Amino acid sequence: MTNNISYEEIINIQRKTNIVDIIKDYVPLAQKGKNYFGICPFHDDHNPSMSVSEEKQMYKCFVCGNSGNVYNFIMEYEKVSFIEAVKIVAEKIGIIIDVNNINKEVDNKYSNLYDIYDISYKFYQNNLNTAYGKEAKKYLLDRNIDENIIRQFNIGLSLSNSELYSVLKKKGFSDNDILSSCVALEKNGKIYDLYKNRIMFPLYDLQGKVVGFSGRIYTKSDESKYINTKETKIFKKGELLYNYHVAKKIARSEKNIIVVEGFMDVIRLSTIGINNVVATMGTAVTKHQAELIKKLALNIILMFDGDKAGEKATESYIQQFGQDDSNIKVVRLEDNLDPDEYILKNGKDKMIEHLSHPISIYDFKLSVYQKDIDFSNSKDVSNYINIMVNEINKIDDDIVRNLEIKKLSKLTSVDENIIISKIKPNNNKRIQINNIKPKNIKTTKYEKASRYILHHMINDNNAILYYYNNLSYLPFDNERKLANEIVKFYKKYDSFNLNDFIIYLNDNKELVNLVIDIDSMNLSNEESNDDLDDYFSVIKQYLYDNQIKKLTNELKLETNDIKRKEIAQKIVDLKKKEKI
Ligand code: CTP
Ligand code: MN
Repeated sequence: MTNNISYEEIINIQRKTNIVDIIKDYVPLAQKGKNYFGICPFHDDHNPSMSVSEEKQMYKCFVCGNSGNVYNFIMEYEKVSFIEAVKIVAEKIGIIIDVNNINKEVDNKYSNLYDIYDISYKFYQNNLNTAYGKEAKKYLLDRNIDENIIRQFNIGLSLSNSELYSVLKKKGFSDNDILSSCVALEKNGKIYDLYKNRIMFPLYDLQGKVVGFSGRIYTKSDESKYINTKETKIFKKGELLYNYHVAKKIARSEKNIIVVEGFMDVIRLSTIGINNVVATMGTAVTKHQAELIKKLALNIILMFDGDKAGEKATESYIQQFGQDDSNIKVVRLEDNLDPDEYILKNGKDKMIEHLSHPISIYDFKLSVYQKDIDFSNSKDVSNYINIMVNEINKIDDDIVRNLEIKKLSKLTSVDENIIISKIKPNNNKRIQINNIKPKNIKTTKYEKASRYILHHMINDNNAILYYYNNLSYLPFDNERKLANEIVKFYKKYDSFNLNDFIIYLNDNKELVNLVIDIDSMNLSNEESNDDLDDYFSVIKQYLYDNQIKKLTNELKLETNDIKRKEIAQKIVDLKKKEKI
């Protein structure tokens, strides 16, 4: 391993950890028999299909197959590397490990970029407090962004020429690195700062490292209001959310996350003590962003700008990501205001009032479509009812359905029974935990034999050696890789233990999932080597079969009689062996 935490330390940290306590921080878990169950955060899950075993210290989703130990869970959930996951788990149980060096190694490839952004944002920040920054500071204060907020969000100011470039040169960065960070650009053979006279907002990656900027004009100007850093290796606008690193912690305890369009909205909401907020930084929410949001919390509140564009953005989000999600709610602000403007105009209490009464997706649609309806025109009303019936069909809670039918009937003065006659029976009922069957059980006899062999190897050290000495091959790639790793592990540590082995596999998620899947097969552990011999002969049979097939094909193509005879003899020999 290429870091300064030893494998033994990582094992030790896991031994001191209870996976149930850790996962509980992210996903509510309910005990059912020996195991705990919760909604799987790794696929679009509506029922508790993830089981967490306290005894085995592992989790496994019965639907999507995602599984692993506590580190795998954190890696997947927090989107961090193996080492970072170890650090997070260690911190949670009160062990501090120095990961500065480790982070450096992990990010080594782009460390120059990170360093450049780090120096840049501090440089920008400093400018705001100089005489040159007076006007910009006044602009911010006029917008009610005070010193505390400036510091909290590391807001700064760019200068007028190539000052940042000079600073970076003095620090020893190459032109190449500076240009690839996009804080400067080349024009007629000279290099200038990209951002000139703009208020600078650092943009962070999911872990909170500065990876780019958005610069805003603050004087009257024809230039575009914001300029963002171009996409780089570490900055992909569609893959990050402004304030995610702060919001994710708070959202989990608040049990909801608020999604807004602009980072000014995030900043303003923070001034009234609301910090479980992320911004998409533009109107079209990407699939990647939606997935990040979905993962964070149980409830999502979409509070896009109050104008038509914000309405469209809300519709598009719902259409793409929230068809049947009762956990998505909407806040629509009056007078076309964005959240920033709304708070400035109406105050903190009004905003909190709004946020504590978000409307359902259904009610949002009800009001959107309603705007285009002339209620005195019966054709319009009939169309409207058809559209809304379609929406009601998507609701899976019977009580909510019933209430919405009543509401629609009242609004349109059309008899409830007529509306009900158009509604489809509710098929969205939830499946029970007990009904969940493991997906894709592979059943060819060769695959079965491979899995049985691996199961023996996991449970009995002797089987590892027996496999190594007598077969040492499995026909399927992943199964074979897994067997090889088990043998390697055994040779290195002189014994085999599943928990330690999974740590040893660290970020090889495919093998982690496979080994846990095989471990969870219900087999008796006390089968003898005789059974192994049976499985071995099945695999050998597979190998002979394959060779025979290959030779038979060769035979068909071969025209030389002598060679044909040779091949035929080989086939006969193989067939004899196969029978043994
Ligand atoms: N945006 C952008 N480029 C623009 C305009 C907007 O990248 N030319 C992004 C910014 O990230 C901004 C978001 O879209 O945060 C929302 O834009 P907008 O509503 O115009 O900005 P506001 O948040 O209202 O900013 P301000 O109040 O400072 O005008
Ligand atoms: Mn605004």
